[in-house]
Amino acid sequence: MGRPTRAFLNAQALRHNLRRARSAAPTARVMAVVKANGYGHGLVWVAQTLKEADAFAVASIEEGFQLRQAGIRQPIVLLEGFFSADELPAISHYQLEPVLHQHEQLRMLEAASVATPLTVWVKVDSGMHRVGFPSHEVAAACARLRGFGTVAEIRLMSHFACADDRNDPASRAQLDAFLPLVRELALSASIANSAGILAWAESHLDWIRPGIMLYGASPMLGESAAYLGLQPVMTLGSALISIQRRRRGDAIGYGGSFRCPEDMPVGVVAVGYGDGYPRHAPAGTPVLINGQAVPLVGRVSMDMITLDLRRQLQAKVGDPVILWGEGLPIEDIAQAAGTISYELLTRVAERVPRVAASLPADSKRDAAQPG
Ligand SMILES: Cc1ncc(COP(=O)(O)O)c(C=O)c1O
Repeated sequence: MGRPTRAFLNAQALRHNLRRARSAAPTARVMAVVKANGYGHGLVWVAQTLKEADAFAVASIEEGFQLRQAGIRQPIVLLEGFFSADELPAISHYQLEPVLHQHEQLRMLEAASVATPLTVWVKVDSGMHRVGFPSHEVAAACARLRGFGTVAEIRLMSHFACADDRNDPASRAQLDAFLPLVRELALSASIANSAGILAWAESHLDWIRPGIMLYGASPMLGESAAYLGLQPVMTLGSALISIQRRRRGDAIGYGGSFRCPEDMPVGVVAVGYGDGYPRHAPAGTPVLINGQAVPLVGRVSMDMITLDLRRQLQAKVGDPVILWGEGLPIEDIAQAAGTISYELLTRVAERVPRVAASLPADSKRDAAQPG
């Protein structure tokens, strides 16, 4: 069996979360965001599992090619568009839909010739101030694009900066900047990320773009995934590989940052920052053994972590351990480590095998094979 570290993937949960997004925005089509290797779950596995998605969104043509080569037929949107003109023939060949966020991309499109004209998305900077055309330039950019032989259809896209906070006025201001443009230009449009889908009904428009909610993590500040009706897709698991009785005063691990306050059992688990477990998870971060949360102690090493087993005296070598996922919300670990669930998921290392989760309900294995 080898090293016991695994990312268990639950296909049912992934499909459930897609249905949750659809039920929140029933009139919109769903562009499932699968960039960054399907948020760490496996690009092709996610796309093949989400057969019902209307489109997929990725960050590079390489990700788009991978999906096409795996037989994915739905539209594929390139969220950052293209970076140089030499990508355009392949974008046309694979029928990828680039997002255009600056004039330079328009110039490249104007000068190019492609076998099949493209559907393009014009990115509107409605207030995030990262990329996109300012609102007052959008109508002119669209008018220019209409004259290009390389362009078949134009759509509008924008992106929320603060939709995770229901009380932040920035989302209202972004909608006030974007919606009039959508009405004026009468083009198909999209602005809602997961938080927009769940918290800002006016943002649903023609296409929603769920990312993190598909993977079962909460997109909302202070609202748990379970409360929002989401199910974790990835459970990061490993096993206890050693239990030692340490003496009062013993220093544990690198830097000796934890000293045993009394004689106590300390367990070692085969997972570390080399697997994607956050190095900055502090002492006290919960880890699940036999259904009970026990505290991490000492520093996270590359391949191992150490646990205070005073509340798990029955624990034995080989017992399965859950780092996040089923029974232990990833947001709790992210918060303890000063990061976000997005980062934890996308950083699960390549060396961690992704395997189909056994289903708790009937313990059947799912037919889909994670990539
Ligand atoms: C342009 C764009 N749309 C949609 C998403 C999905 O966002 P979320 O994962 O918060 O749903 C992202 C993710 O970063 C994005 O960059």
